[in-house]
Amino acid sequence: MIHQLLSVYLIICHSSALSSGKEASTTVKVNGIVGQEVALPCNISPPTLDDEVALVLWYKDESSTPIYSLDARRGVVGHGKHSSSDNYATRTYFSTVSKPATLQLTAVTANDEGSYTCRVDFRKARTRYSEITLTIVVLPRKPRITDGKGDLIHKVAGPYNEGDRLVLLCESEGGNPLPSLTWWKESELIDESYEVTPQKITFNQLHVPPLHRNDLMVVFTCRASNNNISLPISSSVKIDLNLRPVQLEIDGAYEPLISGRLTELECRTSGSRPPAVITWWKENRKLKRTKNWTTHNGNISISTLTFQPSLEDSGKYLSCRAENPEIKESAIENGWKLEIHHVPVLSLRLGSKLRHSHIQEGYDVYFECDILANPWVTNIVWKFERKELSTNTSAGIIISNQSLVLQKVHRSMRGRYTCSATNPLGNSVSNPFHLKIQYAPLCRTGQKSVYGAARHETIKIFCDVEADPGDVKFYWRFNNTKEVLDITTFESKETRSKATFSPTGAADYGMVLCWGKNSIGTQKKPCLFHLVPAGPPSSVSNCSLQNQTEHSIELECSEGYDGGLSQHFVMEVHDTKLHKLRANLTSLESRFYVTGLPPGTDFVVIIYAVNAKGRSHAVILRTRTLTFLLKQSQEESLWQMTFSPVLIVLVAVVAGLVLLACLIVLGLKTRSKLHRSKDTKAVKADASDEHEVVNNKNINGVGETFKGWEPVESEKHPASVPLLLQVQTSSPTLSNPSETSETALYE
Ligand SMILES: *[C@@H]1O[C@H](CO)[C@@H](O)[C@H](O)[C@H]1NC(C)=O
Ligand SMILES: *[C@@H]1O[C@H](CO)[C@@H](O)[C@H](O)[C@H]1NC(C)=O
Ligand SMILES: *[C@@H]1O[C@H](CO)[C@@H](O)[C@H](O)[C@H]1NC(C)=O
Ligand SMILES: *[C@@H]1O[C@H](CO)[C@@H](O)[C@H](O)[C@H]1NC(C)=O
Ligand SMILES: *[C@@H]1O[C@H](CO)[C@@H](O)[C@H](O)[C@H]1NC(C)=O
Ligand SMILES: *[C@@H]1O[C@H](CO)[C@@H](O)[C@H](O)[C@H]1NC(C)=O
Ligand SMILES: *[C@@H]1O[C@H](CO)[C@@H](O)[C@H](O)[C@H]1NC(C)=O
Ligand SMILES: *[C@@H]1O[C@H](CO)[C@@H](O)[C@H](O)[C@H]1NC(C)=O
Ligand SMILES: *[C@@H]1O[C@H](CO)[C@@H](O)[C@H](O)[C@H]1NC(C)=O
Repeated sequence: MIHQLLSVYLIICHSSALSSGKEASTTVKVNGIVGQEVALPCNISPPTLDDEVALVLWYKDESSTPIYSLDARRGVVGHGKHSSSDNYATRTYFSTVSKPATLQLTAVTANDEGSYTCRVDFRKARTRYSEITLTIVVLPRKPRITDGKGDLIHKVAGPYNEGDRLVLLCESEGGNPLPSLTWWKESELIDESYEVTPQKITFNQLHVPPLHRNDLMVVFTCRASNNNISLPISSSVKIDLNLRPVQLEIDGAYEPLISGRLTELECRTSGSRPPAVITWWKENRKLKRTKNWTTHNGNISISTLTFQPSLEDSGKYLSCRAENPEIKESAIENGWKLEIHHVPVLSLRLGSKLRHSHIQEGYDVYFECDILANPWVTNIVWKFERKELSTNTSAGIIISNQSLVLQKVHRSMRGRYTCSATNPLGNSVSNPFHLKIQYAPLCRTGQKSVYGAARHETIKIFCDVEADPGDVKFYWRFNNTKEVLDITTFESKETRSKATFSPTGAADYGMVLCWGKNSIGTQKKPCLFHLVPAGPPSSVSNCSLQNQTEHSIELECSEGYDGGLSQHFVMEVHDTKLHKLRANLTSLESRFYVTGLPPGTDFVVIIYAVNAKGRSHAVILRTRTLTFLLKQSQEESLWQMTFSPVLIVLVAVVAGLVLLACLIVLGLKTRSKLHRSKDTKAVKADASDEHEVVNNKNINGVGETFKGWEPVESEKHPASVPLLLQVQTSSPTLSNPSETSETALYE
């Protein structure tokens, strides 16, 4: 009841006050946001200190019913009674603690907009009115950001290429009042020129200047704001970019490379996003032996090239290219012309004025040594048949760094020429150049010059010459003391000619001359051959024992005259004890080696020469293989002596006895020797006769001669052995058989 009465009173008062308008003070403007809280200020401080607030009433618009009241008429303001009309019951509260006091209105709606009046009654002072205009703000929708093509962008835009022009459109719908739409780059305002469509859509189009690499991951924000109470509503995009490679470096560039040496070159590039693709090029050819990787989150790409440069690469352009595959024409390149160091490459040739196939004796010859080298060579060496050449004007050799001059060449200068040169990387030798010098025929040395032929025997004489060209025409001539005869029947092939002779009488033996002629000239000195009557060969002489072991012997003799024909030699080794032929060797040289003989055995060795006409006198030697057992037993006794002193005494006694026996035997022997020496001379004469017989017989005859000879008996009766030579086993050489036999036999 009281409350109602109060209300009525208040309404009247209020109406009168409003109508009079006298008390209305300045109007305060307050903005509120839908759904949020708003505080409407009202000054309730009494004008004088002795006064107090009695009653506070709030009205809205023209309504005469208060929407809120604070009744403090029965106490102080702090304990006053708050009440509100039904519409506001839960949403309002008048706070008297704040200064000024405020009517707090929560969860505001658009309907709350309007004009509010606050009436304050004091106990003593006059009633005070204050007017507050509440405007309700409707927030705009969250801005949408689209690109130039109208595609919506969420958070990250791109990737765009560096340098692209970018258009960003920001739109926001609704809002009351209509919002302002601004573009921000990070925290910097860059565009505030927005417009509104008739459909109440606010938009702002941002033209971003050409994108720079610094714009990578930069945030562009569009802010919509229509009040200064709440925070602006914003949307942001981050810019993603493809970046071009910026730097390119090559480790080891411009340095000379060494031919044939495996080289690694490293190329690194930075600044590309996504990582750059690195390729290596030699001129226009892509190189494949590469390895690549990235570091620093792909900012740096590295590629190593494994490369084996060769001489041919000199001067070629080697380059490394880095490219962002996402950006056209983003490639950057770095390269250089290769400098290749290599060992000298030499090529030897004749001087240009000369034609190789036609150099003749007496011409001047020029050689050129073509050199390809980096670094340049320090010295050049010329060689002829591996011997170094040096300038010798008297010999007609002139060397001037890369050329060699041979003046008036001689046949002896034929052969291999080379030049060689050295640089810090090594030494190399040119191709050998085989210098051919044409010359007239010359007689080949070392030919058989004596031909032996029996009467009516047909014999071929070979004539060999040296000549270049080898197309030789031959001439033959026969010369004896009586006549000179040109021979017309012979056969020739290249540098050899063959003439056939068949002497019938003494006049058909003599000197044969042969000479050749080729395109260069005629042979100056003819080849000489002697056609002599042929016979059996002479016996060997000066035989010596070269080596002697338990199982082998080695002998060497001097050859005798071959009787005008080719000869060979025979050695027979007879075992004197077993009457056995141990070995029978033939040889083209008068040198023999026989092995596989029993040790400590005596042998008779017979050596003779044989040719087509027969055989020579035999030379007979006597020798012995070394005794193997003797050596061993000596060693054994020595060994025993060291172990037993008793044995030593025993051995000494035995040795004494043996010595005594030896002395007796020696005494007997010297007596018998004196008897023998007289017989020996006679035997020697017999022996020579016997060998003369041998010579006239054929080879089998020798065997027959020695059939009757008994080597075992000869041991017992040395006098019966003809021409036997006592070979000392300790002596390595043998003297002439005849001399030795004399000394051996007459000693
Ligand atoms: C809000 O804006 C109003 C007028 O537009 C102004 O009077 C008031 O001072 C502003 N408040 C703030 C906190 O900027
Ligand atoms: C990428 O490379 C560029 C160019 O060298 C450099 O400026 C930049 O700092 C690098 N970025 C990173 C993340 O290393
Ligand atoms: C290195 O680069 C070449 C050429 O671009 C490419 O073919 C190859 O797959 C790359 N290799 C690696 C391991 O990245
Ligand atoms: C020059 O050549 C001549 C004739 O061949 C020779 O006797 C002489 O030793 C050479 N001189 C030198 C310095 O080799
Ligand atoms: C050859 O040597 C002479 C001096 O001996 C020098 O002046 C000249 O340059 C050299 N020629 C070449 C092609 O090296
Ligand atoms: C024949 O030989 C004799 C002496 O051996 C010699 O004096 C003479 O000049 C030679 N005659 C010819 C034509 O070779
Ligand atoms: C015999 O041979 C020796 C060496 O084998 C040699 O020195 C000597 O001259 C030769 N004697 C004869 C006459 O051939
Ligand atoms: C003798 O011959 C033996 C066996 O063939 C060999 O070992 C030795 O070296 C030779 N001695 C000489 C001096 O030739
Ligand atoms: C040894 O050999 C030669 C030729 O081979 C032969 O003529 C000779 O009869 C042989 N001597 C013996 C004793 O058999």
